[in-house]
Amino acid sequence: MIEIRLAAAADIPSVALLVAFSFHPGNGWQALWRSFVQLGIEHDLRDRWRSASPHYRCWLAITTTPQPLCVGSVELDLRPINGHPQPYLSNLAVHPDYRRQGIGRKLLSTVTASLAASPYSSLYLHVLAKNNAARQLYRRCGFVVIGEDTTVWGSGSYC
Ligand SMILES: CC(C)(COP(=O)(O)OP(=O)(O)OC[C@H]1O[C@@H](n2cnc3c(N)ncnc32)[C@H](O)[C@@H]1OP(=O)(O)O)[C@@H](O)C(=O)NCCC(=O)NCCS
Repeated sequence: MIEIRLAAAADIPSVALLVAFSFHPGNGWQALWRSFVQLGIEHDLRDRWRSASPHYRCWLAITTTPQPLCVGSVELDLRPINGHPQPYLSNLAVHPDYRRQGIGRKLLSTVTASLAASPYSSLYLHVLAKNNAARQLYRRCGFVVIGEDTTVWGSGSYC
């Protein structure tokens, strides 16, 4: 059973661990790299929490059995897009052992539902061109590519 709930500051370490592991699974040197990445993510999350942006939200997917475990997360905030603040989704991550069970889709629909009563009609994000799993998920959920961005991490799409 999966429960989606808003994160609290106390969840920051488990979100950082989940995001680092989701984007950098693997052993050996990758595990070492992951611990650095995890520290950076944790630092960024604390910054975002401290910034107290009224628009910032982070949702978690929690398994309730056999014991509560954070297996997914996603963040939402406003970012300037074409000179105007717009909802921007980041760090959508699902633990590798829990993929293809609809958790990514559930987190995405939680984010879009949260915007239903807002004045915003679009939701933006970046995804790497080579990230086929995420691109397929976004496509299935109705996102469309509106541009290509080659300035960060090589080629990526802007949805
Ligand atoms: C991308 C990610 C969040 C998907 O999470 P998930 O919980 O596995 O996604 P869902 O189970 O909700 O999948 C929904 C649909 O997305 C598509 N999809 C998801 N993973 C896929 C894969 N590996 N290959 C192809 N399509 C995939 C499918 O259409 C799937 O529907 P289906 O299972 O009925 O075929 C997960 O793979 C992940 O955490 N990846 C690493 C982090 C990342 O890349 N995040 C996105 C950054 S932009």
